[in-house]
This record gives sequence, C-alpha cells and structure tokens, in this order.
Amino acid sequence: FTVKMDAADLGKGTYPFYMLKEVDEQPVVMHRLAEKYLDAKGNVVLPADLLDALKQADRLYIVAAGTSYHAGLVGKPLFEQLAGIPTEVVLGSEFGYHMPMLSKKPMFIFLSQSGETADSRQVLVKTKALGYPALTITNVGTSTLAREADFALELYAGPEIAVASTKAYTAQIGVEALVAKALGTAFNQPAAKQFDVAHQLALAADGQQALIDQKEHLHDLAKDMFATTRNAFFIGRGTDYFVSLEAALKLKEISYVQAEGFAAGELKHGTIALIEDNTPVVAFITDPVTAEHTRANGQEVQARGGKVLHIAAHDLAKDGDELVIGDIDPLLSPLVTIVAGQLLAYYTSYDRGYDVDKPRNLAKSVTVE
Ligand code: AGP
Repeated sequence: FTVKMDAADLGKGTYPFYMLKEVDEQPVVMHRLAEKYLDAKGNVVLPADLLDALKQADRLYIVAAGTSYHAGLVGKPLFEQLAGIPTEVVLGSEFGYHMPMLSKKPMFIFLSQSGETADSRQVLVKTKALGYPALTITNVGTSTLAREADFALELYAGPEIAVASTKAYTAQIGVEALVAKALGTAFNQPAAKQFDVAHQLALAADGQQALIDQKEHLHDLAKDMFATTRNAFFIGRGTDYFVSLEAALKLKEISYVQAEGFAAGELKHGTIALIEDNTPVVAFITDPVTAEHTRANGQEVQARGGKVLHIAAHDLAKDGDELVIGDIDPLLSPLVTIVAGQLLAYYTSYDRGYDVDKPRNLAKSVTVE
C-alpha cells in the first residue's frame, strides 16, 4: 500500500509543526556558532580581508527586512558598544529609494535568512555600483545576496522551513556578536576584551533551553493572555524594545492577532488609550538601567484593567513575575527572551487551529519588491 506524504513533512519527526522543531533547535545552533567561529583559545576567527574591510569603515549600515531587521536592531548596540563603530539599521524597502546622506567610508551588512529578499538585494545592487564594500550574513551560503556581496558569513542554523523565522533570528544575533567582538578586539576596545563571547553563547543556549523546558507553562500563559484576544502589546526599553518588535511580529504573522511592539516609555504618549479590561501586555525587563521604569509602565497598564505578563532577567525579577530568564549579558538578552515570544505565538496559533508553518498571505522568502 502507499502512504501519501508531503516530502517537506519528512523532516518534521514527531513535531506537529516545523516552527516548534526550529524553536527547539536554537540551543544547538548557539553551540554550533561557537564551534564554527571560535578557535581553541576562544578567539573569533574571521577571514583577514573581511576584518580589514570592517576596520576601514567609519560606519556600518545593516540592511534587512522583517525579522532580520529586528535582529539588525539588536546588532546596533553590539557594534557600537563592543567595537566603538557607529551603526545604522535600515529597512531595505525604505533605504534603497530614500537613501540618507552616507558617511565617508560606509560598509554594508546584509542580514537575510534566505539571502533572496528583493528589498535587500536592490540596496546591494545600488551600494555596489557606488563602490561600497558589503558583507552578507545569511543561512544559505549559495544565495544571491551571499554570491553578490564581497564577503559572506553563514548562520549555520540548518534549513528553516516554517514561514515564521525563529532560529535564524537568534543565529543572526549570535553572528553579529561574534563579528562585533572580533572588530572590537582588533580595535583594542576594553568592552570587547571583557565580553566573553564563548561564555555568552553558552549562557544563551542554557537560557533558551530553560524556556524550552517550560513549554507547558508557556502554553498556559499563551492561553491565559491570548486565547480570544484581538489585540496585544509588547513593551520594553533598549534591547527589550527591539525584542518587543519581534515578539509582536511573531504573534501577528501566525495567529493574526493585531500585535504591536513599542518602547515602553511611549505607552503614555498615546497607546495607553487602547488599554481596556484584560488587554494583554507583555513586558520585557532585562535592562538594568530601565527595569524600574518599564515595571512602572506595567503598573500603569494594570491600573487600567490590562493584564501584564512579566518576562524578567533573574537579577531584576520580582515575586509574581510569570517568567524569569537565566543569566546573560543584557546586550544579548533577546537571544533568550525571544524564545518566550516565539512559544507564546506558537501556542496561540496552534490553539486557534491555524496552520502554524504556512500562515495566510505569506511566503518564506519575498523575492519581489
Ligand atoms: C519572519 O518571521 C518573516 N516571515 C519575515 O519577516 C522575514 O524575516 C523577512 O521576509 C526577511 O527574510 P530574510 O531574512 O530571508 O531576508
């Protein structure tokens, strides 16, 4: 007899959807990045000509779309604080047609899981014509963006099948951290010396695994927060703001909930008008500098009937916080906190009976502008 099976289903194993499998693979990807990019002494190994090009740049421009753009945002403080190089993060679809005044010696970094995103490629075509160097960081070494750039680094995340990007996002942040560390070390930056990237990747893997091991708790939280809601908010400051944007994108693209991520301080400048009884708000609290401010914003939400889910760093956590994450440098906390965002989105979509891997109106790679 014959069994009808979609060829793509073969790689799913016992998982109901690829997305869940890909979420679970993230700790392994963190370790793989350390194996691929670090030598026995823990030094980052990059091609010498790439490091030279990076050293000559006076400003980095990270170009990306969607989730990759959100990973780029996390890269900005990594490059600025570890390597001391000004960094802009831009959307390919905007930047290519409304190019701002560039610095004298820009270098472009294209972040793309697929390496095929047309919005990013049109920027590469233009910046190449202007003679500027480009590095592509992608999951597909043979992709168009990898082939057309001067330099290419791989994410080593393994094939990502689900439309919602998960392990590519965390791998992109991991590679940004490695490149920032290498550049900061080349520049003798004290912050880079103190930043033990091997240790941080190991902490990221542990922190991710700890959340993955709490799937039932996350499923309950997803039910409690999002089971029937039509809208949701994600707030945070600094890197917690950047991860809020990504967590909101995950929820909207697979569960069709109108979700918005924004800087927590902006709540009182408008969005708080939308808070009603039981409006779900997820607060990321991993930044020691602004933790108390974000907490106060959560209290403002609660005072208006909203429901707040706190995701806090262990050293900033308070009694009653729903999720506490393991030790990690605040610059890299999105590597861990996003796993909570991914699983909350996954279970919301799953419980609503949607095809988690193939959300409506979306394709895995967007090859038209
Ligand atoms: C993420 O979940 C997306 N479906 C989408 O935003 C994606 O990140 C974007 O299209 C960019 O793709 P790329 O990384 O392959 O360039």
